[in-house]
Amino acid sequence: MSQEELAERASLSARAISDLERGVKRTPRRDTVQLLVEALELSGDARTAFVTAAREPAARRTPKQAGRLQVAVEGAPMHPHSSIPPAAIQTTPAPPPAGGFLGAVPEGSLIGREAEFSAILAGIEAVIQGSGQLLVVVGEPGVGKTRISQEATLACRDRGFVVATGRCYEPHQSVPYYPFLEALSSLYGAAPDPVRAQVPTRWPHLMRLLPDQPSGALPATGASPQEEQQRLFWAVTGFLQAISETAPVALLLDDLHWADDASLELLQHLARHTRAHRVLLLGTYRDVEVGRQHRLGSALRDLERERLVERIPVRRLGHEGTVRLIADRMGQDLSDEFTELVYRHTDGHPLFVQEVLRTLIERGDVYRRDGHWESREIADIGVPESVRATIADRASRLSERAQGALREASVLGQAFDFEDLQAIAGLSEDELEAALEEALAAGLVYESGDRYVFNHALTQQALYAELSKRRRSRLHLAAGKRLNGWRSPSGGDGRRSWRGTSGREAPPGGRFATPSSPVTTPRRCTPPRMPRGTTGRRWNWRGRSTTGTARRASSRSSAGLCG
Ligand SMILES: Nc1ncnc2c1ncn2[C@@H]1O[C@H](COP(=O)(O)OP(=O)(O)O)[C@@H](O)[C@H]1O
Ligand SMILES: [Mg+2]
Repeated sequence: MSQEELAERASLSARAISDLERGVKRTPRRDTVQLLVEALELSGDARTAFVTAAREPAARRTPKQAGRLQVAVEGAPMHPHSSIPPAAIQTTPAPPPAGGFLGAVPEGSLIGREAEFSAILAGIEAVIQGSGQLLVVVGEPGVGKTRISQEATLACRDRGFVVATGRCYEPHQSVPYYPFLEALSSLYGAAPDPVRAQVPTRWPHLMRLLPDQPSGALPATGASPQEEQQRLFWAVTGFLQAISETAPVALLLDDLHWADDASLELLQHLARHTRAHRVLLLGTYRDVEVGRQHRLGSALRDLERERLVERIPVRRLGHEGTVRLIADRMGQDLSDEFTELVYRHTDGHPLFVQEVLRTLIERGDVYRRDGHWESREIADIGVPESVRATIADRASRLSERAQGALREASVLGQAFDFEDLQAIAGLSEDELEAALEEALAAGLVYESGDRYVFNHALTQQALYAELSKRRRSRLHLAAGKRLNGWRSPSGGDGRRSWRGTSGREAPPGGRFATPSSPVTTPRRCTPPRMPRGTTGRRWNWRGRSTTGTARRASSRSSAGLCG
């Protein structure tokens, strides 16, 4: 069947089919998949296989799945999105662990971090020997906490661990157990069958935190909320301990500075009661966010007193590390002059280095000639002064519509749903798809399950800062209405299941209302925090022309991310 015939039969545009075939299409929406299934007259196993393959984000499709999709629509091989010319940022994606993986598949090798990673490996070895560990990776935003933790997930996977991850998001700080909802969902999916079968009888309280479980299964006991909470803690602990009898367990919780209080208490409980089990607890947090009053600060101080936690600080890369990071991203060494320029401006801040490279490529300051990267005259290259300015500069190269959609998405938090964005942005499905495809291609967002995620919290915050106060209020209001509208039809106790998942792959940042908490909407933007050494500089345009957005960014004070 030709593309045109299929498009006509499925009532889709020929472009949509062509994008899908070439793999440049984002994971197709459910209704699109449905239309294709009908048009292709698939049934039985073929239908199931096709739907599964189509809903798997392109970057995560197995060759077999990609093949199914490809055979079905008779197209060219799938390839994941790439925001940078193929040779620019080398991709060495290792297959993610079964239980979970933090964030997007990394774009290149882990640079430096030998001492920090040795400390993590020592922790992993200790766990294998039967001594449970709590490690916390700490540092400023964008310095590489998630990146080194991703490497830890791979190290754990290679050593036969069951790996589960959970992320905290700023808008979900008041949702009880938010990061555990995701992590326990993966653990439940990855648990050995006999352990999983015991959940309803041995750890019934655990079911409160699991997707697709009948929450009414627990009889009312008349216990106090504190007693109920203890039962829940012991249920989670017992479940982890039981899995660890068959294989070591790694539980990774990212961005704990945004964890809700209940999660921090549960983490403390686990740290205290898995010491004699093969359980690795690994968390990350931003030290700049955790003052003396912060709940995480006091929890860590308690754990430190009890010698139950090891902190692993992550700092900026030095000159040599920065040179290596640039070489890794570009796939070749660049001139000393160029690397010096990047180092001088970024001070070895990895996210900043990466975004500056992308900016310079997008602007044509760095370009390919005869299969090699070259740069313009160093004196002619203007480097943005901060991560925020770099992101603003990069976003300004997208179409107006894509820029608008991304700014609107920033109100929904770091992770957002297509439908929620569509509801507040007022764009048609096609328009929004096109806008998001641009953002995906630019690497400003990535897909995770059914959701979109900004490539970094700083990206979301930088775009949020671009919104006027009035527009922010209007969008927050629309988002609030949308999310409340989404929740109310559920009835019952307000619990929602992870949508469209088998329980193995809970969507990071997926919305989940627990009995005591409504679905939350973003309330505020993080107070201004710029990476050290990146504030106070002016754009160094040296007469280069820039777009309006970049100029606006340049003239604004760089003191913070949130204007
Ligand atoms: N040591 C490193 N080697 C290679 N890339 C890194 C390193 N540290 C950070 N990065 C990259 O920089 C970006 C920001 O890192 P990330 O881990 O998200 O920061 P954080 O979690 O501290 O905010 C990511 O794209 C990450 O892959
Ligand atoms: Mg991170």
